[in-house]
Amino acid sequence: MPEKESEENNQFSSALVFILASVGSAVGLGNFWRFPYLFGMNGGGTFVLVYLVCVLIIGIPLLILEISIGRNLRRSLLEVYELTCVKYKFLSYIPILVEFVLLSVYVIIMGWTFYYFISTLTGNFNTFDNFILTYESVLYGIVALLLTAIPIYLGVKEGIEKTSKYLVPLLFVITLGLVAYCITLPGFDQAIQFYTTVDLNKLTDMNLLVAAISQAIFSLSVGYGLLITYAMYNVHKESIMRDALTISILDTTISMLATIFIFTIVFTFGYSVSEGPALAFVVLVSIFETMQYGQIIGTLFYLCLFMAALTSAISILEFLISNLQNKLNWSRGKLVVVLSTIIGILSIPSALSYSPLNNQFLGMKFLDAMDFYIVTLLAPVCIFTIVFLVYFVNKKELIEEIDLGEKTIKVGKYVHAWLKYVVPVIVIILTINIILQFL
Ligand code: PHE
Repeated sequence: MPEKESEENNQFSSALVFILASVGSAVGLGNFWRFPYLFGMNGGGTFVLVYLVCVLIIGIPLLILEISIGRNLRRSLLEVYELTCVKYKFLSYIPILVEFVLLSVYVIIMGWTFYYFISTLTGNFNTFDNFILTYESVLYGIVALLLTAIPIYLGVKEGIEKTSKYLVPLLFVITLGLVAYCITLPGFDQAIQFYTTVDLNKLTDMNLLVAAISQAIFSLSVGYGLLITYAMYNVHKESIMRDALTISILDTTISMLATIFIFTIVFTFGYSVSEGPALAFVVLVSIFETMQYGQIIGTLFYLCLFMAALTSAISILEFLISNLQNKLNWSRGKLVVVLSTIIGILSIPSALSYSPLNNQFLGMKFLDAMDFYIVTLLAPVCIFTIVFLVYFVNKKELIEEIDLGEKTIKVGKYVHAWLKYVVPVIVIILTINIILQFL
């Protein structure tokens, strides 16, 4: 019966698959691209320390909240709002809108990773400037979008599950291989030293704190309601605490490994540690071109970036589908086609913003402006939208859900109180600082 089949296809087949898919969502460009350059610009070890604290005090509690809501109510964000606080339903549209824009930017950068994978594989080390001049980034963005849309079209079990099951473990294996190789390079010791340098004076720097919190949220894919969607596909009610810890430990490990790899290369070839966003696409390409085994190492590195970006993009598209499907009452296929078309059109200005057309938006390159205005500036609003739910969902049910798979230590009560009283304060501090930075 088609009804039953589609219900079956709408679930993950095990608790492990749920974790793999969530790690797939978490591990993305944020780990291989954003974390390393923030690490370089913010004093290495100092940034790592602040980052770890942020994961602990805000990332993990939000993960637990989203997973428990999704698993308990088995509804997507929009429907959770309809069920628990319909008066404020408009709020749930904010993360949906943000994810829409995020995906349009994300597929373009994913297209760059795909381009660099193919070009290093074929030994053609084109510079970033030349690549961007040719408008090929639009073409690669479309390919990236298509590769994202196909698994979503196939459904949760046939598409998302199968992709995550193979790509996430492969990603870990390749990353470990790259790190094993870089141990042999002369810059490795310096990279480790940079890692372990902590400047105590910098710990109170608000800019560092904002960078670390925003990165923790972005990297774990929390604060948008996306894990509510993945958790509703997880019918295997095991320990939420274990799930949240596993996802955050694996995500943080990949960021650390990617950074060790990148900075070993940066130190070995004498580049500056604070190259900023240009690191992965400008600096590394030119190093791979000249270094020994550069073609193999470069190909594997861009393959990692591409696979990481793909599983993240898949999760964003699925989040949009899960929220809009019941609302519009459309089939999955129709929604995938319509949403991908809109996202594709929306992504063109971003793709062209580094081209000679130099598309601008409020004085910034279009892609950078979308990243800044929509992703960074609205991040606290999104987190607020999720934390807000703590005040409306049934407290007893939520705590029971958090403790459900727990045999010994039951932390539901404490996590609930933390989310209700501490996390909002952190979000307010974050918001004020982002506004101050902006002014
Ligand atoms: N976590 C992803 C990354 O690190 C980005 C992402 C953010 C994905 C929000 C989904 C939702 O690249």
